Amino acid sequence: MIEVWTDEEALECTMVVPEAPNVRTFAFRAPSGRLFDYRPGQFVTLELPVPGGPIHRTYSISSSPSRPLALSVTVKAQEGSVGTRWMFDHVNVGTRIKASGPAGSFTLGPTDRKYLLISAGSGITPMMSMLSYLYDYGTDPDVRLIACARRPTDLVFPQTLTHMAGRVPGLKLSFAVTEEEPYQVWTGYMGRLNQLMLGTMAPDYLERDVYCCGPEPFMQMVREALSYMGYDMARFRQESFAAPAPVAEVVPDDDVVPDAAASAQVTFARAGVTLDCRETDTILALSRANALRIPYGCTFGICGTCKVRKTKGEVRMVHNGGISDDDVADGWILTCCSHPVGEVEIDA
Ligand code: FES
Repeated sequence: MIEVWTDEEALECTMVVPEAPNVRTFAFRAPSGRLFDYRPGQFVTLELPVPGGPIHRTYSISSSPSRPLALSVTVKAQEGSVGTRWMFDHVNVGTRIKASGPAGSFTLGPTDRKYLLISAGSGITPMMSMLSYLYDYGTDPDVRLIACARRPTDLVFPQTLTHMAGRVPGLKLSFAVTEEEPYQVWTGYMGRLNQLMLGTMAPDYLERDVYCCGPEPFMQMVREALSYMGYDMARFRQESFAAPAPVAEVVPDDDVVPDAAASAQVTFARAGVTLDCRETDTILALSRANALRIPYGCTFGICGTCKVRKTKGEVRMVHNGGISDDDVADGWILTCCSHPVGEVEIDA
C-alpha cells in the first residue's frame, strides 16, 4: 500500500537551487519515504524556528504531484523578510522543518481544458506546478503562459519552461519584462502587461480559464484588463498571499454581528485556560495576547494554518478561502478570523 506524507512528519531538505536573484528552490522529501499527494497550485506552510520563536510562512508548491517523491517550494527573499531570509541562511541539505498542509483552492481544473496562466515575479511557482503536471500527464495540453518580471534575470524557470514548450506543441510561452539587461539582447515583450499585449499573447483568451498569481496591483491590472475586454470573470482565478484590500463587508441579514460592547469567553480546552474578551476580538489575537500557542501564518484567513476544532459555542468567521466547507461542517474554525459569540470552547 502506498503511504502518503502527512504533516505529522517533518520534511527533510534534499536540495537548494538558486533560480534568480534572491530566489531559491528548496526541495524536500519525507524521511519515511512516504509520497506527497497534493493538487497542482496548492501551498504548504513551513514552521521556521527563527530567533524569538517559530513563525509560519506559506509558500506555493512549485513541484508537481506527478513526481511524488519530492515536494519543492520556490521562494523569493523580499527586502526585510524574516522567514524567507532565515530559510536562505539556515536551510541546507539535511535540515528538517515542520510543515502543514498541503492546502489551498487555487488548483488546476481538468487536464483537457484550455488555460491561460498569467504570473508576475515569483507568482510563477504555482504555475510551474500546474505546467509540470500537464506536461507529465502526457496528453498535449492547450496552455498559454504569460510570465512577467522586472528584468530578464528575474524570470524564474525560463530554461525549464522553454525546454517543456519545445517538446509539447500545445504549450506556448510569452515573457515580458519592464527593464532590459545591459549588454544582453532581449527578444521578448517589453513593458508592463496591458490589454494590447494580453490580446497579442493570447488572442483566444475568451475561450480560456485564466489563472493569475503575482502582487495585488498586478492582479488588479489583469482583472481590469480582462473585464474591460469582455472576459467572463467567473472563469478567472487568482492566488495571493497578501492581505486583501479592505472592502466594505456585506453581512447577511441573518448573520450574527460581533458587538464591541458585548463580552465573550473562550476556553482553550487543552491548555485548561478560560479567558474573557470582547466579541470583536479574534480568538487568535486572544491567544497571542495571553501567550497561548496557536500556529498561524497569514492572519487573514487564506493559509489555513490557524485552524482548530471548536468544541462548544458559536463564532462568527469571515475568511478568504483558508478553510473548506467540509471542515466548517466538521466544526473547524480559522482562529485568525473567528470572533467568539458568547461562550466558546476550542480544542487548543
Ligand atoms: S493564519 Fe492564515 S488562515 Fe489564519
